[in-house]
Amino acid sequence: MPGRRRNRKSRNWADRHLGDQYVRKAQQSGYRARSVYKLIDIDRKYNLIRPDSRIIDLGSSPGGWSQYASSRISARNRITCVDRLPMPPLEKTLFIQGDFTDPETRRQARDSSPNGWFDLVLSDMAPNITGIRPADQANAEELQYAILEFCRIALRPGGRLLTKYFEGENAHVFRKRFQGHFDQIRVIKPDASRPESREVYLLGGGFKPMDSGGIH
Ligand SMILES: C[S@@+](CC[C@H](N)C(=O)[O-])C[C@H]1O[C@@H](n2cnc3c(N)ncnc32)[C@H](O)[C@@H]1O
Repeated sequence: MPGRRRNRKSRNWADRHLGDQYVRKAQQSGYRARSVYKLIDIDRKYNLIRPDSRIIDLGSSPGGWSQYASSRISARNRITCVDRLPMPPLEKTLFIQGDFTDPETRRQARDSSPNGWFDLVLSDMAPNITGIRPADQANAEELQYAILEFCRIALRPGGRLLTKYFEGENAHVFRKRFQGHFDQIRVIKPDASRPESREVYLLGGGFKPMDSGGIH
């Protein structure tokens, strides 16, 4: 019975989740999400967050990445956080609730930086999976388009982007799209990313806003 299968599947997920070392670690350390350890791992290796970096965290809720990033910035600095879901308040952050595929949300996000620029764009956003392949593909593309559009209007030349994507049949198209806009691209699978998940992170450095290739 599909209902029973679903119940078994969600019980398996719950068992795995509760037995997961990163879930326990996050609970003990007061982090809101286990995903924080992916950002910590990448930050330690690639020195992403500096005290005066202007940072935007896309898909920030419930706030694990923002908790860590805000602990690394100076007292006078602020992180912009964006999510379509609410996020409980956090010191040194400014939260915008909205859908990032909406240009109005992107405009608000850009205007939240005092000089209109960010040094670092972080995105842990993932589209809702419907199971219908063309729809899932279209949703993933829409998010990628929104992130690149935002970089074009708000990431400073030379700035960095860390964004999640999923390895699969169209991953090479995704990487190619971002390659034209950055001097260096790395694909990273952080230790805390579940080995069975196809998720990886793309780290782009040396942003080139005036690339003539456009968004393909
Ligand atoms: C994996 S969670 C992020 C976890 C977060 N990094 C943390 O450490 O707490 C992904 C988030 O992306 C958000 N999201 C997905 N698509 C979005 C969109 N189009 N606009 C805004 N937020 C979106 C979801 O609401 C969800 O909260």
